[in-house]
Amino acid sequence: MNKIQYFDSHAHYDDKCFESDLDEVLTNCFECGVTKIVDVGYNKETSIKAIELANKYDFVYATVGHHPEEVYSDTNLEYIYELGKKEKVVALGEIGLDYHWDNDKVLQKKFFIEQIDIANELNLPIIIHNREADMDILNILKNEKKPKVDVVFHCFSSSGEIAKEVLKNGWYISLSGTVTFKNARNLHQIAYDVPLDRLFIETDCPYLTPEPFRGKRNDSSKVIYVCNKIAEIKGLENEIVAKQTYENACRFYNIKEV
Ligand code: NI
Repeated sequence: MNKIQYFDSHAHYDDKCFESDLDEVLTNCFECGVTKIVDVGYNKETSIKAIELANKYDFVYATVGHHPEEVYSDTNLEYIYELGKKEKVVALGEIGLDYHWDNDKVLQKKFFIEQIDIANELNLPIIIHNREADMDILNILKNEKKPKVDVVFHCFSSSGEIAKEVLKNGWYISLSGTVTFKNARNLHQIAYDVPLDRLFIETDCPYLTPEPFRGKRNDSSKVIYVCNKIAEIKGLENEIVAKQTYENACRFYNIKEV
């Protein structure tokens, strides 16, 4: 295939807004050159759905995991052991901490740490969800419970200082459509500074639709706009950014490139 290929490293096709035309959407993504998509689970139900989708489409892969906004005192993570061993499951996530809402921080930390243990045991890389919880996330990953597996900070939105810390530890940074927003100067700087071999591109669709489609439903075909914006910021050819981010994600998720 001579066409440029793109890897959308983070999508949510379980969302209701895809109910009526998912097949059409995914076919179009593939035709646009988005030939790898990772569909991300965030609780038991969506992890099962992600695996079902991955079984249906060759170019779609799945993750299993329990999002910090989904944890309750009676949450049971047993399902992750079982689902995590299924074919086409390529990561554990998205997991982490979310302090935006008034959720129980102690409970979030407990389940985050437990899932790092599971990822180590299953030898699956980890996708981090971090919202307003920089210091606690770094503290857990660096001190309390060090992962033995690769880690990516998905939809990165923290400061340049935190980005440096992530890179220093050998982890990855994934940029979403927010990097295309005009006033996202911090993210533009991060896109410029982060070495290309440590970057992923993602849509996090149906959320975070890039320019010039803001306000519309997002899907993986629009990861091309994320790629092109990063290329523009770095002063590189679009093709170079597409190729390198594709290779990075394939290596991280242990997916064959062809
Ligand atoms: Ni997500």
